[in-house]
Amino acid sequence: MLEWMHDESMVGKLHGDFASKTMEDCRQFIRKSKDGHSDIHLAIASDADEYMGTVSLKNIENGSAEFAIAIRKEAMRHGYSWFGMTAILKKAFEELGLESVYWCVSRENERAVHFYDKHHFGETLDIPAGILDRYRGVRNLKWYSVLKGDELDVRERVAGCRVIRIKTIPTVDSGELSVFEGGQDIPFDIRRVYYISKVPEGVRRGFHAHKTLKQVLFCPYGRIQLILENKHGREEIDLSDPSIGVVIEEPTWREMLWLKTDSVLCVAASDHYDPEDYIRDYEEFCSFIKG
Ligand code: TYD
Repeated sequence: MLEWMHDESMVGKLHGDFASKTMEDCRQFIRKSKDGHSDIHLAIASDADEYMGTVSLKNIENGSAEFAIAIRKEAMRHGYSWFGMTAILKKAFEELGLESVYWCVSRENERAVHFYDKHHFGETLDIPAGILDRYRGVRNLKWYSVLKGDELDVRERVAGCRVIRIKTIPTVDSGELSVFEGGQDIPFDIRRVYYISKVPEGVRRGFHAHKTLKQVLFCPYGRIQLILENKHGREEIDLSDPSIGVVIEEPTWREMLWLKTDSVLCVAASDHYDPEDYIRDYEEFCSFIKG
């Protein structure tokens, strides 16, 4: 914790004095967080159980709470922030039965604003006066909120490719079954299925596009970031839900970043394997889509 607290690049634009905190302050914070009622603080940990950051619900009262997050620099770009945020929001709504969660950032905190934009949180203008009061005198804040029942980061498209909800049937205490059928739920017949497994966290794969092949990509286990680029632009999406798939129907450069060890990437493809259909050179891909 002290590492990010004493890192000016991480806390410079946060509200609060972290630079003067000591190890004893951290110990006290952890002790207090264990018996907190109006505040909940949880550590975000890696698969190796290493501390990556803290997510909090503060001032829990009248069905609402304020969200906060701080992470180590090392934890950035690996999906830890999104993981921590969605986990604590789930707790807020499902376990604590809250109706709304609010938070704000300085508009000058470009990294944070970019993060919330990327995950499609819009600016909230109707923040209850009691909550605004806590920040009286602080200027240039951007407020956000999530209400109970809001779906998080539901996107229709990523780089123009359709994000589909795969039909998923839950069973009581026995998991769930997901299914899609070629030509029915997806716009092509399936000629080939392949999957990539046993990949360590942090590895990137892909780095190619297909000239004609159509595919559905999905992640039945784990967390994988999919970066797609085509004539619509370059966009990324984290696949961490077995009921989400991305349909690629046009030449699209793809890179996959394993955010969690042993995550599995599955692909249902419209044709048999054909090395001639691959474009593995990025410059060649750029010319191909321009042409
Ligand atoms: P590759 O396309 O390089 O994987 P990535 O998704 O990381 O880009 O595929 C790895 C190897 O598997 C490569 O030698 C080609 C082979 N392969 C097949 O033989 N059949 C297939 O259907 C696929 C997808 C790959």
